[in-house]
Amino acid sequence: MCGIVGYLGKKDTVDVLISGLRKVKYRGYDSAGLALMNSDGEITCLKSAAERGQSIDVLAREGAVLDSDFSMGIAHTRWATHGKPTKENAHPHHSCNKDVWVVHNGTIENFVELKKYLIGRGHAIKTETDTELVAHLLEDELKTKSFENSVQSAVKKIVGDFALAIMCKQEPDKLIAVRRTSPLLIGKIKTNEGLEFIVASDVLVLLEHTKEVFELAEDQMCIISYSGFAFKNLEGEEVENKKIEVEEFEVASGKGSFPYHMLSEIFEQSEVLERALLGRMMPQQGLVKLGGLEKNQEVTSRLSKIDNVILLGCGTAHIAGVLGERYFNSIGLSARAYQAHEFLYTDPVFDPEKTLVIAVSQSGETADTIKALEEAKRRGALTMGVINRVGSRITKIDDCGVYNRAGYEVAVASTKAFTSQVAMLLLTMIYFGRSRFGMSYFEAKRVMTELEALPGKIKKVLEYNDYIAQIVNMMSKYNNYMFLGRGYSFPVALEGSLKLKEVSYIHAEGYAAGEMKHGPIAMLDENFPVVFIAPNDGTIDLMRTAIEEVKARSAPIIIITTDDYDGFDRITDKIIKVPTVGDDRLTPLLTTIPLQLFAYHSSLQRGLNPDEPRNLAKSVTVI
Ligand code: M6R
Repeated sequence: MCGIVGYLGKKDTVDVLISGLRKVKYRGYDSAGLALMNSDGEITCLKSAAERGQSIDVLAREGAVLDSDFSMGIAHTRWATHGKPTKENAHPHHSCNKDVWVVHNGTIENFVELKKYLIGRGHAIKTETDTELVAHLLEDELKTKSFENSVQSAVKKIVGDFALAIMCKQEPDKLIAVRRTSPLLIGKIKTNEGLEFIVASDVLVLLEHTKEVFELAEDQMCIISYSGFAFKNLEGEEVENKKIEVEEFEVASGKGSFPYHMLSEIFEQSEVLERALLGRMMPQQGLVKLGGLEKNQEVTSRLSKIDNVILLGCGTAHIAGVLGERYFNSIGLSARAYQAHEFLYTDPVFDPEKTLVIAVSQSGETADTIKALEEAKRRGALTMGVINRVGSRITKIDDCGVYNRAGYEVAVASTKAFTSQVAMLLLTMIYFGRSRFGMSYFEAKRVMTELEALPGKIKKVLEYNDYIAQIVNMMSKYNNYMFLGRGYSFPVALEGSLKLKEVSYIHAEGYAAGEMKHGPIAMLDENFPVVFIAPNDGTIDLMRTAIEEVKARSAPIIIITTDDYDGFDRITDKIIKVPTVGDDRLTPLLTTIPLQLFAYHSSLQRGLNPDEPRNLAKSVTVI
């Protein structure tokens, strides 16, 4: 969730670093900093922990008035793990003699031991961060070794994850990047004046400058200078590193004329769904084609024996998993969704020969999901990814998988990724339904025909945008919300409440509607609104009962239903009717959208920036 940018070249170093930081800030950050080196090895460092995500602007202002000619620099956005989000704890960090400067993503697990060791050797540790220790380790190594050899020795002493960009005063013509687990990319830029290089933890930073992108492999370093770059392993041996096809990566679509990425991504959902389905459905044959599940003979053979599915994910991805659980159960395939971080503690019993473990993750980098997936793999289960980011870590761990094709999701609150995850789980349901679980040709065809019609229906739901903004304004005095749904609408209630909390900081609870009378109803009064997700499916009668119970407690009511039902019209004037779908399992793809818009407008209504909610990171790469 932290972001790294490094640059060696002739352009304005401050401009390149600041522009890179602006590209990685979507990952979530609470402080930022940069260190610049001139050709004499003199260092200038700027840091900021300004409130409300202003740190990069502060650095840009302070950087603009520096008059030195810098030959390279490293920069960082920090999301606090070890130590508070203060200016002192912001990266870059330096050694006692200020010869070594480091930016770091990841977590150093042997932090306590290393700190004790370094203090014992006379180092003064000034910050609470784990990163500072790397600079001190390097200072020691540099007493007897070259910069390059020092990096090799120092990182061998680290237990944990790291992506590091390092500058050293003794060798002011070199920038070194090294990584273990945390991703790090190198971009080679050819200009008329020669070669330049850019280092970053996110491909978005590189694409502004070059398409010649290289990904550092595990325990690999890149030694960068004006004359070129070399990839080496930690034994110092040169290793080959092939250029990545950057076309593989989905490029951020930008927010266009929308004021925020979140709104742009909500509005993109009809195209996202089209893209996710493209070429994967054959309704006339009643079959789906998921290339990622046909990886090799072993995978195909193991898939043909699956009779149990475990879905792993966190946050919104977990909620998509809860829907997946219901989809698989609906075809007679046993399934259970776990919050990935709870998976280990529940000691789930499963037969690895017959169990498919699906990791659902937008980023493919969520540490909790990775840890659980690795455990499932260790126990011998077949693993599959439902992942958005091409080439991300989970895609390198899983045995097979499908990409969601949602494109870069920049807003921290996940919206379009959710839609694409749900679509992928529906296709996977059809895959198993048709191959092993007796789903009829007609049922498969019907689901796919309905899916084909959904992008148009999503557009219809989006027409409610202004109306939802009005509802939000009418409801501006409320500080608590309950979201209720049954069956396929229960996960939608969870997602509606999560979205509202994330971007507006309004307290919200998502419950299965039947659970309300078992406790949560005690909270309801005229100041506690309830949002019902009550499409006209098999649950509508019980939902009407719940609505009456809430009405009797004078709680304000908002209802999301389908346009084939008018039974709620006299209960509240705050009704949103989404188009009816011919298969109940697909309705969540429509009913979720008004809730995303509700959260978005609530954020604006409270004067917040919905794209950058406080304390949250786009991908949570720590356990
Ligand atoms: O990248 P992932 O899908 O694995 O991320 C999982 C969650 O951290 C993520 O969905 C989070 O809950 C979002 N902020 C939700 O909007």
